[in-house]
Amino acid sequence: MDKLLIKGGQPLKGEVHISGAKNAALPELCAALLSATPLVLHHRPQLNDVRTMETLLSQMGVKITHHNGSVTLDAGTIDWPLAPYELVKTMRASILALGPLLARCGEARVSMPGGCAIGLRPVDQHIKGLQAMGAIIDLEHGYIAARASKLKGTHFTFDVVSVTGTENLLMAATLADGVTVLDNAACEPEIVDLARCLTAMGAKIRGAGTPRIEIEGVTSLHGAEHRIMPDRIESGTFLVAAAATRGEVVLRDADATILDSVLDVLRRAGARIETAKDTITLRSNGVGKAFALVTAPYPGFPTDMQAQMMALATCVSGTSTLIETIFESRMMHVQELKRLGADIDVDGNTARVHGVSKLSGATVMATDLRASACLVIAGLMADGETTIDRIYHLDRGYEKIEEKLSGLGASIRRAKGGTATDAATLS
Ligand code: UD1
Repeated sequence: MDKLLIKGGQPLKGEVHISGAKNAALPELCAALLSATPLVLHHRPQLNDVRTMETLLSQMGVKITHHNGSVTLDAGTIDWPLAPYELVKTMRASILALGPLLARCGEARVSMPGGCAIGLRPVDQHIKGLQAMGAIIDLEHGYIAARASKLKGTHFTFDVVSVTGTENLLMAATLADGVTVLDNAACEPEIVDLARCLTAMGAKIRGAGTPRIEIEGVTSLHGAEHRIMPDRIESGTFLVAAAATRGEVVLRDADATILDSVLDVLRRAGARIETAKDTITLRSNGVGKAFALVTAPYPGFPTDMQAQMMALATCVSGTSTLIETIFESRMMHVQELKRLGADIDVDGNTARVHGVSKLSGATVMATDLRASACLVIAGLMADGETTIDRIYHLDRGYEKIEEKLSGLGASIRRAKGGTATDAATLS
């Protein structure tokens, strides 16, 4: 398994380009299943999760070609509407194939994702929503087996706000008979981007980005071209890394308008931030100040940024409070941060982080995708060398992270190892 070796203590300085968003790319790749003519996605991030989704789609019969940062997906024929356990266990977002397969083929078999490192993460909302659209769903041999000769428009209210749940039903509803209304829908910017992609393919959608989405089903969708939005979590991660190392960075190809809650907390922590079209500049103001945050569905503070903010909190003056409300086990980075000298108390879903003057490098282990990003930031802050084990998690969601950080002056390198065998964690 690869490791990352980081010599900390250097402020990050310079410019970095932000990649296409993982969490927009994954549903948009699945959207290709809805059309018999090719979908072209530009600004494709080079990530393991994107490669896994493409492998899954090609096993179904989708023809995939890459050219200059774009991908063309031709789902002219779908031979095998199945997402097998072997792939779903490495990437929970494979569940996103369920709605489009069912809408296009009238049947689908997708492995149940099961538990994962950051919590139980059930898929009951995906299933209930599709049942409300008339699908017959059986849970057999660890698989969700769904059938529907034609999905029907319905009024469905989510019991909990679910990002991929909203995306699955949104995609399924584009080809349903009649109008579907989704209430208590997730409002994440990735849903707005998916709706843009589907609209370019001929779908009729109103209200994406609000808690009520209305979809008027059409008989077929067609191919289109779409540019994947910038990754707001990658953007936030580089901003936190700059603040935490007391540096100064400019993000290029970024979108500040979808990062309000993160920029607010960074400002409260003492960073100076300027935004312009496509760029965000952060200048640290020396030792930061303690802050408080509570994770919540968009436009609240993203759970996918909680771990990175905790790394920043370890060395600001005063005690910061971080409350996780989305996932029940998303504090696994705490034990690793403590190995680097952080002073943190955890009570249930609340972490109190008492700022210390510095962290000291050690060997730590990444437990999930965003926890890995937290440890990279902590390694950049720490005195001496930090070794991060199990970084296959990081490769799932950050494109060329060592290259990008080296470009900002970090001393970071990858030590090649064997193959990851237990990559079954998610986010
Ligand atoms: C997506 C993101 C992930 C992010 C998360 C929350 C993708 C590929 N992943 O994950 O990076 O951390 O949103 O912003 O976009 N829940 C249920 N039943 C369901 C579905 C969800 O109870 O059927 C619960 C989950 O256990 C969790 C909460 O709802 O507590 C939110 O989960 P959800 O929004 O579905 O997360 P994902 O879509 O899996």
